[in-house]
Amino acid sequence: MPSILEQFRADHEDALENIDRSNRALQSLKQGRPLDTMRPALDALQDFVKSLLAVHIPLEEEHLFPFLAVFPEVSATISEVKKGNESIQSFSQQLGRELQQDRPDTGIILETGPQITGALETHIRLSDLELLPFARRMLTKDQLEELETRFRERTALPSAYPLPVIEL
Ligand SMILES: [Fe+2]
Repeated sequence: MPSILEQFRADHEDALENIDRSNRALQSLKQGRPLDTMRPALDALQDFVKSLLAVHIPLEEEHLFPFLAVFPEVSATISEVKKGNESIQSFSQQLGRELQQDRPDTGIILETGPQITGALETHIRLSDLELLPFARRMLTKDQLEELETRFRERTALPSAYPLPVIEL
């Protein structure tokens, strides 16, 4: 099994793949393809976000960020990532509500979809460029072991991992 910090990065790689597929689906929708043909991709994006919110994001917020919070040089970035995570959650809820309507409003989907992928991209950029390299330098062996333990606890939940990959 990869180290916990590598696991975070691997999740981000999967997310980038999902973002790319979702953006292509949204683009097709914008060009007039019927929603029904794009629905599997949007549902897959929703499933992906749900799994991130179940394991990856709580693990970062509850167990990684507290270790990093003692370093003032990353505190602004941590706040930004947390704010972005709230956006991911709330836009995903909005998209979910719209997709459940009898006649979903394409305009709302074309608005919330890119907001989700945009917020995910921000999360990935700030983490991969700043927080994870910083954590790699600063975290102690004990802290890394604790993160691994928390990860194992959370992934012991059924179907939390692996993260789904969208097929189009
Ligand atoms: Fe992350």
